[in-house]
Amino acid sequence: MSFQSVNQDWEGLAKHDAMWAILTSPEKQGNKWGNEEFFEAGRYEISVVFDLLKELKALPVDNELALDFGCGVGRLTQALGKIFRSVHGIDVSPTMIAKATALNAAPDTVQFRVNDTTVLPFPPSSFSFIYTSIVLQHIPYPQQVEYIAEFGRLLKPGGTLVFQIPTKDIRQISLLQRIKSTVRIRERLSKIGIGTFHHMQMNPVPEAEIHAVMKAAGCTVVGHRYTNHTDVGFGGRLRFMERSQSKDYESSLFIVRKS
Ligand SMILES: C[S@@+](CC[C@H](N)C(=O)[O-])C[C@H]1O[C@@H](n2cnc3c(N)ncnc32)[C@H](O)[C@@H]1O
Repeated sequence: MSFQSVNQDWEGLAKHDAMWAILTSPEKQGNKWGNEEFFEAGRYEISVVFDLLKELKALPVDNELALDFGCGVGRLTQALGKIFRSVHGIDVSPTMIAKATALNAAPDTVQFRVNDTTVLPFPPSSFSFIYTSIVLQHIPYPQQVEYIAEFGRLLKPGGTLVFQIPTKDIRQISLLQRIKSTVRIRERLSKIGIGTFHHMQMNPVPEAEIHAVMKAAGCTVVGHRYTNHTDVGFGGRLRFMERSQSKDYESSLFIVRKS
């Protein structure tokens, strides 16, 4: 599926049920996420990430400027706004950005904008902190790798980049079963009223390639954790695991520094 058609899918999902498209807990389908519980899930996820950064002694050099890539309606962007002087949330979907702007509780600190190319609209070494979660997994190859390289360009020396991405497809199924499972997702989405099919694809990138891309961008991977981000019931309740326990995609969180 092409980069452009994935972008159109997100616009369709944003119009239909934006919060459920972001956190796909089955019981929240049909616009059932409440604003408060949804944004609390963002504060919780960011607090878990920052506890890890403290443990790894990988906190960013300062609390100036942060980027939330693929911000959706601002669940994590607003949480970062409690830590950083200024935060940019960017997303490919104009409807996500319109909703994020409408829900923005701190417009002096947190700003949202649309971007639909792999070149991000900021000068080099802009950001003290860059975060992205449950976004890169849905972007096709090679664009997801181009974004990771772009994060390296945007990170300032002493800055910290944290990103989640699946590193392995561990489904033990045949090609025919994979096709059938895609058809089932189509059917489920059309049952909830998405007439035109809006697909959420999953695209893993091998760990070795991530290390190579980061190195080429002048950055170092200083930590790695397996996470529950790819579980259907993730719901923002981030957990780290010694080994991936997922049955479908091994989800990894990379902690990267630029010296
Ligand atoms: C599952 S949601 C996650 C939203 C947010 N990160 C969160 O966890 O609350 C994925 C988001 O990525 C956005 N997205 C998909 N492809 C993108 C791209 N190429 N550039 C920027 N955002 C993108 C989608 O529009 C959607 O808002």
